[in-house]
This record gives sequence, C-alpha cells and structure tokens, in this order.
Amino acid sequence: MRPLYLLTLLPLVLGGCPYLASNEASYARTSSSPAPGFHRALNQLSVDEVKEDLMELFASSDPKWPSDYGNYGPFFIRLAWHCSGSYRISDGRGGCDGGRQRFDPERSWDDNTNLDKARSLLTPIKEKYGLGLSWGDLFILAGTTAIESMGGPTLGVCLGRVDDVDGSKSIPLGPTAEQEILAPCPTNGECESPLGSTTVGLIYVNPEGPMGKPDPVVSSTQVRDTFARMAMNDTETVALIGGGHAFGKTHGACPDGPGLPPNEDEENPWAGNCGSGVGIDAVTSGFEGPWTSDPTKFDNYYFQNLLNYDWSVHKGPGGHFQWQVASDSNATSPSAPSADGEGEQDIMMLTSDISLINDKAYFKIVSEFANDLDSFSDQFAHAWYKLTTRDMGPVTRCHGPTTPEAQPFQYPLPATPSPHDLPEWGTVVKGIEEVIASNVGAGEAFVRAAWSCAKTFRNTDFLGGCNGGRIRFVDETFPESDEIASAISLLSTLEESAPSSLTFSDLLVLAGTVALSSSNPSLPPLRFCGGRTDAEANDGGWEYLFPRITGGVDDNADVLADVISMSGLTEPEYVALHTAANSLNLDELVNNDFELDADGGLYKAVDAEIFITKTDYILKTHAEFHSIVVDFASSPEVFQETLAVAWGKAMTNDMFAVDLGEASPFCFTN
Ligand SMILES: *[C@@H]1O[C@H](CO)[C@@H](O)[C@H](O)[C@H]1NC(C)=O
Ligand SMILES: *[C@@H]1O[C@H](CO)[C@@H](O)[C@H](O)[C@H]1NC(C)=O
Repeated sequence: MRPLYLLTLLPLVLGGCPYLASNEASYARTSSSPAPGFHRALNQLSVDEVKEDLMELFASSDPKWPSDYGNYGPFFIRLAWHCSGSYRISDGRGGCDGGRQRFDPERSWDDNTNLDKARSLLTPIKEKYGLGLSWGDLFILAGTTAIESMGGPTLGVCLGRVDDVDGSKSIPLGPTAEQEILAPCPTNGECESPLGSTTVGLIYVNPEGPMGKPDPVVSSTQVRDTFARMAMNDTETVALIGGGHAFGKTHGACPDGPGLPPNEDEENPWAGNCGSGVGIDAVTSGFEGPWTSDPTKFDNYYFQNLLNYDWSVHKGPGGHFQWQVASDSNATSPSAPSADGEGEQDIMMLTSDISLINDKAYFKIVSEFANDLDSFSDQFAHAWYKLTTRDMGPVTRCHGPTTPEAQPFQYPLPATPSPHDLPEWGTVVKGIEEVIASNVGAGEAFVRAAWSCAKTFRNTDFLGGCNGGRIRFVDETFPESDEIASAISLLSTLEESAPSSLTFSDLLVLAGTVALSSSNPSLPPLRFCGGRTDAEANDGGWEYLFPRITGGVDDNADVLADVISMSGLTEPEYVALHTAANSLNLDELVNNDFELDADGGLYKAVDAEIFITKTDYILKTHAEFHSIVVDFASSPEVFQETLAVAWGKAMTNDMFAVDLGEASPFCFTN
C-alpha cells in the first residue's frame, strides 16, 4: 500500500475547533505510570556513582550469605537474568520492568531460589539513591555492571523501569488460579506458549533435562522452543547460555533441598537444609559446580570445555543428574577453586548445556564461539542487552546517559518532529471533513481503522498501537484488513499534495478523531495529539499488531478481560470504544435475546434481524461486562464521557516521545 499525502487546502482558522482537551484525564496514562518525579530524579541520578557502589558490593562478603570466589558478580548476573528471563513474546508479559521479582508469584519460583539474598544485598544501594533508581533498573544495572567488572562486553543499560507496587502483573505467569484458566499447563514440564517456559516457576527449561530425564537431544528441542518464546534465535540462545555460564556456579551441596520458599516461610525463606546452609553448603538449584575453571572472568572456555571433553552423566551431590568429564577419557577434568577459596572443584555441565552439542545448529555456533572470542563477545553483548531490555518496548522509553543506540528488537521509528514542523492541522481537518461528507461510510471507516490500530497496543512490552503506522503493512490474514484497506484508500483520495510533514499514523488517528466527533454531536470535545512517525518499511513490528480478540467463536470472557487488562484502558473505556467503533446499538443489545446463528460466527436476535459478534455477545451475557453495557444504555451521558476519555487515552498510549501535557505544542489547544 502507498503512503498517503494530503491535499493542502487554504489555511483554516481553528476557532471553534471541537478537538480540545476535555480534561486532564483524557490523555493521562493509567498503565505503568511512574511515581511523581521519577523521571526527574532518574535524570539526576549519577549512574557512575551507583556503579562504584555496586563494584564495592561485589568485592564484599556478608557472612549471612558469603560470596562465591570472593565475588558477588555472578550472583547479580543471575538476579538480572532471572528478573528479565520471564519475558515472553506471546503477550509481552514478564521481564524486569516493574521489578516484580520482589513479589509473589515470581519471588517464590524455584528458579528464583535464594535471590532474596541478592535483593537484600542491594537494599542499602536502593535506599541510598531512592526514587531515581527503581528496583528494576537496579537489578539490571547490578547484572550488567557485574559482567563489565569481570571483563565481559556490554552495550550499555536502558534505564527507566517503573516499579510496580505489587506482583499482580505476574499473576498470569503462574503458578496461580488465573494462569490455570488463561494458560493451563496440564503437565508441568511440558508447558506451551503463551507460557514462556516448559515449567511454571522456571525461566526456561528444567536444566536436568525434560521432566528430569537427562536426555540432551530432547533437551535441545525444548531449549530452542522456550528461547523462541522469548524472542531469541539460536545464536542469541547459545551466546546467552555460554555467557551466563562463563560466570559462577550452581549450588547443590546435598540432596536435602534449599528449604521453603517465601510464600511458605516469609520469615526465613530458603534457609538451606545442608550443613550451615550457606557458602559451600548452599543449595539453590540442586546441581553442584562451576562450568569453567575461572568463574569470575568472561571467556569462551565454556564452549571449549563442551567440545574438548567427553561428558558423562551422573547424580551430583544434590541428587540430580548432571554431567562430568568422563572418567574413562584420557583427559583429567579442569577444576576451579572451590567457592570458599579453600580447595578445588571439578567443572560440570547440565543436561541443557550438553544439549548444545547434541543439535547440529547449536553445535555449529558452539564451535564458532569456542574458536572466536570476538564473535562470541559481540553476540553476547547484544543478546544480553536484548534479554534485559526487550520488555521495555520502544527505545523512547529508555532514559539516562547509558542507553545504547536503538536496536532492531526495539523497532525504532524516525525521530519525533519538532512541533514547528508539524502540519497545519486545521488544513488537514478540513480535508478529512470533506472526505467524510462526500463518501458514505467514510466516517465509520475512519473510526474503525483508528481503533483497529490503537487497540493493538499492549502495555506489557509496549508494542503495537498506531504509532509507526505499521497497520498499513498488514496483510489479508489480519482480521480487519478489509476495513483498514478501505479507510486507507479513502484517505488516499487526499494524497495529491499533502504537507510532507504529515505522517500516515497521525492522519489515520486524526481522521478517526474528526469522524468520531462529527458523528456524535453530544460527545465532549476530543483532544488530538500529533507527532507520530511512520516505520519506513516493514520491520516486522506489525506482527505484534494481531489482535487476540477477533469476535470469533473461540473468544471468551476471560480472554477479553485479559486483553483489556493489557490495553492501558479500563473495562468501561474498552467497552465504550468497542461500542462506538462497531456502531453497536446498546439499546438493541440490552433489549434482545440472542442465539448463535446457524451460519456460525455471529449471534442473531431471537425476534429481529439484528446480528452481533461473539465479543458483543460476551458483553451482553457476562456479568462483569453486562453491567457496564446496561449503565451505558441507561445513561448516554456516562457513555459519551467515558468514550471521550477512552479515545484520548487509546490514541496516545503508545506515544512515549511526545509531550502530552496540557500545554503541549503537539496537541490541539486552540
Ligand atoms: C540471531 O540474531 C542475531 C542478532 O540479530 C544475528 O546476529 C544472528 O545472525 C541471528 N542468528 C540466526 C541463526 O538467525
Ligand atoms: C586414550 O588414549 C589412547 C592412546 O593415545 C587412545 O588409543 C584412546 O582411544 C584414548 N581414549 C579416549 C577415551 O579418548
């Protein structure tokens, strides 16, 4: 489809323009709102000073949880990794933004055993810097600084994670009743997408092997599957595993386990059931040993070790299958110092490590990295940044001096224009009004198209939305592609001589805004903010635009509620927008009984020729939505007010680079 340009018409006086701010709430973000003053405090944060404090912490050792090898660095890499590794592309949930590892359910996950100690060690630093240093940012800074401190490559750190006040956004990750409804995993260990891992409570796979069976071939299949659910390809997967396992060790001193998690023993979680419970007596994963002979230095020995030795499986001291250099091979196993520095310990591998030499594609990458430290370093630095940043969304959500240049996974857009370079909006509005006046159905098409792209925004990883104009790249597999195509073709009738500064995405939203206002004389004034820019080519970002609710027969009330919870809108707001965009008659919906039509898909009124979609039917029949619909039907004022606020929010939820404040030059203020 062609980009669109708009006819330049005579400049128009904007007096009486109806697109004004109705109130502050019409554009305030509800989702992931930072605490007041957070960004100001973050901009004043001295990241170098935080890093110095972290370096001092790495070199210390608290007898309550002594560091391994006199270095806490590896511990914080694990913390940052496990905070980030919960991210999944299915719905953008998980990740370290929000710092939810401090709360259940995540803090009690098996894979987060003993990370309460890592967070305690960081508490004095958090308290020292306060508001400007969020927990999420601190975790990622700690892990990334640890890599740097041990000679590893990094790209930098994107800061600006906004701490959640509780763990509720991780409830769908499980283990919870809500997860059982939305994403059941009948056999824990064989979970599938939308869950990120094979096992609820783990980040990826059971490292011992599928369902605890030390089968490296099947393990490689699972590793590939779960990393793909986190948007990682083979190279990134191998780089991350090898980079992570260049550092530190696993802990499984004896078979008696780590003790009870925080949700079962709040006072003294994971007390450790072996000996002193700490240091060389620690139990975390139940496996025991380091992967390389120098576990506090970044190198590619992990890959060399995988290739240079024969590995045989045995039960380690923690009672789980792990791998050691085969005793019948001629080589003697390399050893590392023991964690307390008083002896030595042989290196080991986990089944998931051995899987990397039991799969052709992985083996090739392992060989490359074993022979080429630079290539490994480059891939690891990029993969680590992606792992820890992917859930942050567009690069415009990153703050601070340490943000690297935009990466492909952030689907970067052209820079936001200066407000002086924006088109003369009055002219554009006039053009849109003329199209609406001279084309039957154009107004409805514009409202629908703007809502179609706006509702793809998800406030989990901040993908989707109208910004970027990627909706023009959708193909016929997209549920509303016909309607979108017709809106685009109507707008293209204005293409002759549009101001070059007008972006397709701004035009589409403005057309929807103008159309909604002119079709609803009693609607409170709508505010429009411009400054969206268009992705220049199909960068793959549109694949995240696919709506999860299609009005199809498989949709249900739980899925609808889940989609709404990620939309940045309240349920009434979402219902108002859905109603307006689909020209749904609320009285008809409330006053008729509907049944599934024989032709499938739609529902038909029992006594009238009225058809509604499955989503409409859910709104009518599901108690929680039904009361919203009834309220709206009985009070048109409430409906109109809710709709106006919702429209303003939905159209701007994905705009992070534009000042949306009351006096913003990007917005119509007349
Ligand atoms: C995986 O992605 C990285 C980063 O974009 C790229 O360098 C690498 O070639 C990709 N690997 C594969 C196997 O596609
Ligand atoms: C050990 O070395 C001998 C002599 O070099 C060789 O014949 C044998 O195959 C080696 N064994 C293993 C398991 O590598």
